[in-house]
Amino acid sequence: MKTQIVVVGSLNADLVTRLERFPAPGETVTALDFTVHPGGKGANQAYAAARLGGQVAMVGSVGRDLYGERLTESLRSAGVDVTPVDRDAEAPTGMAFINVDGSGQNEIVIVPGANARLTVERVRAQEARIASAAVVLLQLEVPLPVVETAARIARDGGAVVILDPAPAPVQPLPASLLGCVDFLTPNLGELETLTGRAVGGDVEAAARRLAKGGARRVVVKMGEAGALLVDAGGPSLWPAPRVKAIDTTGAGDAFNAALAVALAEGLPLAEAGRLAVTAGALCVTRAGAQPSMASREEVAAALAR
Ligand code: RIB
Repeated sequence: MKTQIVVVGSLNADLVTRLERFPAPGETVTALDFTVHPGGKGANQAYAAARLGGQVAMVGSVGRDLYGERLTESLRSAGVDVTPVDRDAEAPTGMAFINVDGSGQNEIVIVPGANARLTVERVRAQEARIASAAVVLLQLEVPLPVVETAARIARDGGAVVILDPAPAPVQPLPASLLGCVDFLTPNLGELETLTGRAVGGDVEAAARRLAKGGARRVVVKMGEAGALLVDAGGPSLWPAPRVKAIDTTGAGDAFNAALAVALAEGLPLAEAGRLAVTAGALCVTRAGAQPSMASREEVAAALAR
C-alpha cells in the first residue's frame, strides 16, 4: 500500500501574543507574553502528520531569511522531506500575527510573503511525487491555481485529496477544484463564509449545501463538539474528547493531518475520524501550532482513556 502523504501549502512564522481578551477596534491592551513558533497551515499539517507516523513530504516556499531556515528545520526535525520547499530570494518568509485570548481562542492575520509566490510550475515539477502519494493535503494559504494544479495531479494519480478551505474565500471555490476533492474540511466559520449564510442550528443542512459544490465528502470541524461527516450516506458525528483549551491554534491542522495518516494507513473512516478529533483535541491543550502537535503514542493513549 502507498503510505506517502504530500502537503502542498504554506509555511509561516507565527508571532503569537497571549492576551486576557482581544482588544476592541481602537483599543489598546497589554499582552501577557509574546512568542515565535513555526506555523503555517501547510507546514503544521506536514509536521503533525509526521509526528503521527506518516511518511511526509512538503511542497512550499519560504524566503532566504532566518525564519525560512527555522521553518524548514522544524519540519526536518519531525522527519518531513523538505527537498521540495523552495527558498525564494525575492520574498520574505510568510508570517502570521496571532492573538490568543484567555479562553484559548485565536484571531490570525497572515502576511503571505513567499507563500504567495509558490508557482504552478513548481508544483508541476513535483508531479511524480504528488501523483504517487496516498493522500494529498491542501489548504488555501497559497495561490488558488497552485491548489487546483496539485488537486488535479493528485486526483489523476489516485490519491485521496483533503482540502482545508482556510482561509475561506468569499467567492465560491471553482467546481473544477471541488470535483477533485474527497474531503472538504471547513470549521463552522469557514462553512458560513463558503455557503454565504449563517449555519444556525443545522450544521448538516449547511454541510449538504456546501457539498453540492462537488466535493465527495464534507467534514465540519466543530471544536469541542467534535466533527460532522456528511456524504452520500447519512451524517456521522465524531465526538471530541473533553479537554481544557489553552490555545486552539493549529487544532484544525492536527485534525486534517491525523485524518490523512489514518487514510494513508487504510484505516476505516470511523477510526480515522476518532484519530482526527483526538489529535485536534490534544493540540488545544498546549500553546503554539507545531509545538502542540501530538505524537502517535499520545493520541493512542488518549484514545485508550
Ligand atoms: O492553522 C493555524 C495556522 O494558521 C497558524 O500556524 C498560522 O500560521 C496560520 O497559517
